[in-house]
Amino acid sequence: MLRRYAKGALLVGGAIGIAGLAALMVSGQAPQRHGAAQEAGPAEAGARLYAEHCAACHGARLEGQPRWQHRREDGRLPAPPHDASGHTWHHPDAQLVEIIKHGPARLIPGYESDMPGFAGLLTEEEIRAVLAFIKASWPPEIQRRQAARGGAPERR
Ligand code: HEC
Repeated sequence: MLRRYAKGALLVGGAIGIAGLAALMVSGQAPQRHGAAQEAGPAEAGARLYAEHCAACHGARLEGQPRWQHRREDGRLPAPPHDASGHTWHHPDAQLVEIIKHGPARLIPGYESDMPGFAGLLTEEEIRAVLAFIKASWPPEIQRRQAARGGAPERR
């Protein structure tokens, strides 16, 4: 009798164990990244914003437009890459924020650019999140060099 009970308990326990394991595996396969902006780090929130607002021109993988170093016939430049192969990292943070807020044309009088300003669309915090995402694609050496140019957010 006792042995029978023990055997049953073992079976039940085993079944619960397997169910628990399956539940763990399922929850492990469902990362709750999307739509959880508050819980995500800035770079992660930035990735979403980048995909929505910037990728169309600067490329889904930050690769920029083809022949980005060559002016088009209309005199405008294609969108440059934001990865380490571009020159985004040559600018200090404060300047990058200005470019994104107001568009490159605002910085140079008479200059024309395809890129609009995002001031009405993105908050400063969101712009910094996009920058955090862009910077995360740079190797440590490039991150260091950009920081040396005034990359730190508190420098102005
Ligand atoms: C409609 C296309 C377009 C969109 C959308 C766009 N850009 Fe641009 N962006 C450009 C172009 C074109 C340039 C090159 C500027 C020039 O000299 O005309 C540029 C330049 C820049 C630069 C300056 C890079 C450098 O090395 O000087 C930054 C920074 C930048 N964009 C960030 C962004 C971010 C962040 C977003 C999204 C929030 C964005 N851009 C959305 C077209 C776009």
